[in-house]
Amino acid sequence: MTFLKSAFAAAALAVSSAAAWEINVSASGGNATSGHQYGFLHEDINNSGDGGIYAELIRNRAFQYSEAYPVSLDGWHSVNDAQLTLNRLELPLSDALPVSVNVAPGTVCGNIGIANDGYWGMDVKVQKYTGSFWVYGAYEGNFTASLQSLLTDDVFGSVEVVSKSVADDWVEHEFELIPDMDAPNSNNTFSITFDAEGAASGSLDFNLISLFPPTYKNRKNGLRLDLAQALEELHPSIIRLPGGNMLEGLNNKTWWDWKDTLGPLRYRPGFQGVWDYQQTHGLGLLEYLQWAEDMDLEIVVGVFAGLALNGDITPKDKLQPFIDDALDQIEFIIGPVDSEWGAVRASLGHPEPFRLKYIEIGNEDWLAGGDAGWQSYMEYRLPMFQAAINEAYPHLQVVASGSSHEGLEVPEGVLGDYHPYRTPDELVEEFDKFDNDVGHIIGEVAATHPNGGIGWDGELYTFPWWIGTVGEAISMIGYERNADRIPATFYAPILRNMNRWQWAMTMLQHAADPAMTTRSTSWYLWELIAAHPMTHTLPAEGELGPLYYVSGKNEDKGSFIWKGAAYNTTDSAPIPVTLNFEGVEQGTKALLTMLTNSEEDPYAYNDPHEGNNVVDRTTFVLTANDEGAFEFEMPELSIAVLDTHLDCPNPSKKKRAVLN
Ligand code: AHR
Repeated sequence: MTFLKSAFAAAALAVSSAAAWEINVSASGGNATSGHQYGFLHEDINNSGDGGIYAELIRNRAFQYSEAYPVSLDGWHSVNDAQLTLNRLELPLSDALPVSVNVAPGTVCGNIGIANDGYWGMDVKVQKYTGSFWVYGAYEGNFTASLQSLLTDDVFGSVEVVSKSVADDWVEHEFELIPDMDAPNSNNTFSITFDAEGAASGSLDFNLISLFPPTYKNRKNGLRLDLAQALEELHPSIIRLPGGNMLEGLNNKTWWDWKDTLGPLRYRPGFQGVWDYQQTHGLGLLEYLQWAEDMDLEIVVGVFAGLALNGDITPKDKLQPFIDDALDQIEFIIGPVDSEWGAVRASLGHPEPFRLKYIEIGNEDWLAGGDAGWQSYMEYRLPMFQAAINEAYPHLQVVASGSSHEGLEVPEGVLGDYHPYRTPDELVEEFDKFDNDVGHIIGEVAATHPNGGIGWDGELYTFPWWIGTVGEAISMIGYERNADRIPATFYAPILRNMNRWQWAMTMLQHAADPAMTTRSTSWYLWELIAAHPMTHTLPAEGELGPLYYVSGKNEDKGSFIWKGAAYNTTDSAPIPVTLNFEGVEQGTKALLTMLTNSEEDPYAYNDPHEGNNVVDRTTFVLTANDEGAFEFEMPELSIAVLDTHLDCPNPSKKKRAVLN
């Protein structure tokens, strides 16, 4: 498409001479749905788990390693010339965490120790930090735990921790630290120092050194507050976890083994992941489930289905252990406390079963392993998993990891899963893709590449950008029109640590400094669309394209809802809209919330380094005219939601015009 700059006019209400775009919505006859759900996929990509939503501040806290990532002192440095040596003691902290760091005096007198740079910095504020570390070796004296500047001598806060450590065992030390002042920036470190003269052998071993700021809902081992809040404010109602590619692993021996993620951190070995860094497994299955519970999210849980990213395919006669493992996983999530895995869940503090509806078998099985992988999925892997899950848990909805568009004949009773990462034009072209299809979830969707580029052979765009966001809006509207068969749509992936990332296009960008937390253009779209759930879609008469829309009602609120977006309008002119809901009378009020791009640049984006926001969110209270219709204009590349329920969440106070 050729884009001509539009005169965006906050003139959503201006009277245009062009003929009105008439939309007549019937009061009944559409699809009753249980509501189309909007949410996101989370996997640890872009350091979006460790160093992202998982609030741990210490990087490489337990010297974990894997075949792909050798053990190292990454993130650590010595204090006062201490000698740091990675050590494999005869008595390790646990089999899962066999490597510790030995801290011995160097050539300089005085207290020695270790310091950690965090996930590329640490946010230090006057708030309660909760920490712990394990020590091996007899020591009489105090440890000093401090938060300090990496650039200056400033110490923002410290606490003395009395030693409990002994000669031949590991002893945990816990502490709380409230800094006396906020740090001016995030170039900070955390250190533990001690007087080596008090150490019987002259040195000490440390492992599992952990420090958490206050977390979302005050969960121990919980989520980073600002990121969780930004996600909660999206009004999500569903989460897909734990991947994505992360579920599949690099090979059939290193997939995301949920059993390794349970229980005390001391027993979690970590995981090499698939995104170029070692992961801690701190954000484990239970933490994911608590996240879902705390945000009141439905869950799609992916279970490993015997295919890894390198194309390792599990043969039919070796598949059963993976099926058993998936059944155990389901039992862990929803089994009664007297079941084997329900009892484990209860022992970890959650006797109540979690809420669970969807089980996805694998991830993108049409991709890794090529044709052989996909054939094995269709021939025996999907059928074997499906049969076992249907038998044990007939009420659960099984989801296959591919769609009819990759040639899957989606079995009766199963939903497919479609993952469109597309250009904006392609998303618009796919608006009606599911009009005559069987049920699917849209497990991952995002605008990723600019129009007219070279697609997957090229780079993803820099950040979510305005025209991409409008393309997403149109695809979302297309899915919601088919909400009776397409129950949920997920943005993916959602988070990107600006210091180490593999995938540019994410809903939120972040770094150690919370000032870098940036809501992308897509965040504003998804927030708006999700804030107005429909319980029914309603049939509407009117043309589609370049104005795309879905109409419906929310029976719980007694409201009519319309969601629309304009893309590639004639001469980039605004589209005058006359929207008529059957039964709506003259004088009825509706809230119209419109998103446009304040820079009038389709390539504009929200840049964490700039702290800008190119999305203009405007709300208007409209009054139905004497024919009961609402009249407004949709500028080129605009997105809007009209809702006759005026008490909508978060109507912007930025601009509010009252008509009539
Ligand atoms: O969201 C990023 C990746 O894209 C997911 O891990 C994978 O499922 C898809 O290919």
